[in-house]
Amino acid sequence: MTETRVNRSRRSTLMLLPLRRALQTCRWACGSKCFQQPVNPSDNPTFESILQRRLDRRVLLKGAALSASFLVAGSTPLARLSAGEVAARGASLGFDPISLNTEDRVTVPEGYQSQVLIRWGDPLTSTAPAFQLDAQRAAAQAEQFGYNCDFVGFFPLPRWGARVSTMGLLAVNHEYTNPELMFPDYVAGNPTQEQVAIELAAHGVSIVEVRRRRRGAIPFVPSGEAGVERWTYVVGSAYNRRITAETSMEITGPAKGHPWLRTSDDPSGVTVRGTLNNCAGGKTPWGTLLTCEENFHQYFANLDALPDDDPRKAAHARYGLPAGATERRWELYHARFDLAREPNEPFRFGWVVEIDPYDPSSTPRKRTALGRFKHEGATVVVNGDGRVVVYSGDDERFEYIYKFVSSGRFDPRSREANFDLLDEGTLYVARFNDDGTGEWLPLVHGAGPLTAENGFASQADVLINTRGAADLLGANKMDRPEDIEVNPVNGKVYCVLTNNTRRQPDQVNAANPRPNNKHGHIIELTEDGNDYAATTFTWEIFMLCGDPANPDDQAYFAGFDPSLVSPISSPDNITFDRAGNLWIATDGQPGTFRKNDGIFVVPVEGPERGYLRQFLSGPRGAEICGPEFTPNGAGLFCAVQHPGEGGTFAQPASTWPDGIAPPRPSVVVVTREHGRPVIGS
Ligand code: FEO
Ligand code: CA
Ligand code: CA
Repeated sequence: MTETRVNRSRRSTLMLLPLRRALQTCRWACGSKCFQQPVNPSDNPTFESILQRRLDRRVLLKGAALSASFLVAGSTPLARLSAGEVAARGASLGFDPISLNTEDRVTVPEGYQSQVLIRWGDPLTSTAPAFQLDAQRAAAQAEQFGYNCDFVGFFPLPRWGARVSTMGLLAVNHEYTNPELMFPDYVAGNPTQEQVAIELAAHGVSIVEVRRRRRGAIPFVPSGEAGVERWTYVVGSAYNRRITAETSMEITGPAKGHPWLRTSDDPSGVTVRGTLNNCAGGKTPWGTLLTCEENFHQYFANLDALPDDDPRKAAHARYGLPAGATERRWELYHARFDLAREPNEPFRFGWVVEIDPYDPSSTPRKRTALGRFKHEGATVVVNGDGRVVVYSGDDERFEYIYKFVSSGRFDPRSREANFDLLDEGTLYVARFNDDGTGEWLPLVHGAGPLTAENGFASQADVLINTRGAADLLGANKMDRPEDIEVNPVNGKVYCVLTNNTRRQPDQVNAANPRPNNKHGHIIELTEDGNDYAATTFTWEIFMLCGDPANPDDQAYFAGFDPSLVSPISSPDNITFDRAGNLWIATDGQPGTFRKNDGIFVVPVEGPERGYLRQFLSGPRGAEICGPEFTPNGAGLFCAVQHPGEGGTFAQPASTWPDGIAPPRPSVVVVTREHGRPVIGS
């Protein structure tokens, strides 16, 4: 191929990258669920129809048609300031925002640096081999850092509760695999047995000890990727552990032992091999990890092998299991992924899994009381009365938002006393009313329609088919609920809805004038009486994401002047800094903006409420996950997931982080000059 042809070929590859990347993400991350009809058959109201009615009334009150200017009416005082005045006040966050870009690196503002901490294939144990692309083995992968890192949780050492920010354990999810980028000789639809075994070992969770090196002689690389480590992980630490799709784990809570959880391997329905599609998660107040099983449906083949009158078939269909073969074809070598042979195995996935990162010999536990759906994350807060509340979204178009309230109370004097708190309590699903109020509807067997006549003969039935139960209660269909997190400063709950391009024109109106919600939005929810166990709440739209320079997007930033904020699309994972500012990681900007995904920060209180600024941009093809601060706010960890997705071995879309193919999903840590907190002083 001539040089000109090579260049032309590379140019066309880059032009096609966003589309290819989107298609590959759909294929491997969620089994292309966006290309199929939504699986929620209920006629429950969509969130958009309620938002429409609510904003309609506000428009009528103001006597104005909906427009971008309406959305900024009722604005904060700052929205009436000049750009210069805003910029001066904007210095409160301490950095100059970066811009969207398509560079194949991690970009951070001046005065900050990023460093790759650990990559796919890096050895965790002292016996694990170094990563070798052409000599991959499942046994090695089971002792190496897994693929496609997502949730990142920092647990201080030497113990939970220690006020330490210089050493700790990182718990990192490995959501899924991109076999076409992992194996040079991968044949789609016909993987080898060893490739499948490596994929199983590359899923799950890594627990890894990390340390911040002494300050002093370590050079700082302003606004760049550091060549010298400020943080390092400890190879061979006694804490280091891999949990994979083969690790034995226990089923606990009301659904334990249910007939639908029994298989040939496990006739009693109490022990499962592995965890799958671990997306986001959470940390409990007693220092355990909650890791969430999201798009588990894509791994199980041959739903059509079940007879139509088998009630399990309808339950599986409600979760979107494929009729025939899977894309991954694991069923070629493992009967448990074939419904023709093991029709109950999928019921053993879709749960929240609790793991003690401080005890490498502990058995992970699937907590069935928290319900079974495509859990994005699980955020825990201790209520004023000591009960524990867990918020969780079901990430699929037209699915629901949930919370769990424990029966027992948190005991701060003993970690172990809390280890079974998540086995007993009440699961609720959210209904948003058009007047800005809302209710949490209890998913309790025997209450309302949740009876044997409707297919729910026990609480276990309700929990195994949580989606079906929520349909009967009239919950709100949402635009793909992702992270739901509690702001530790103002106490409000932030619900991220990443997008929903399947919203039909008859579901939108002048109040929410996007024919499809391609950019996503964020809701700010306030529990009545600031009681997280309350069954009623109020809510506001905090952000309608999009490009503020594009009127068609109708972007809205809590009333802040949109001409001053950064464009943002597809919010996914969130966290808060010590001042309560909201940090947002995105997953989808290559598809919507043709730019890389990144991290953004926005105050939620005061005159800068809604003033969104971009802090980080990832390499090509990657979404950014985490993010997670050290307790002192001086380190910001984030996961760079699926860099180069959309490319191939022959035409790599990214060579991050090593400058050579293949790209390697990695965890990054961002620090600031002089070791100062990332935000503030
Ligand atoms: Fe795995 Fe909802 O993102
Ligand atoms: Ca996510
Ligand atoms: Ca995601």
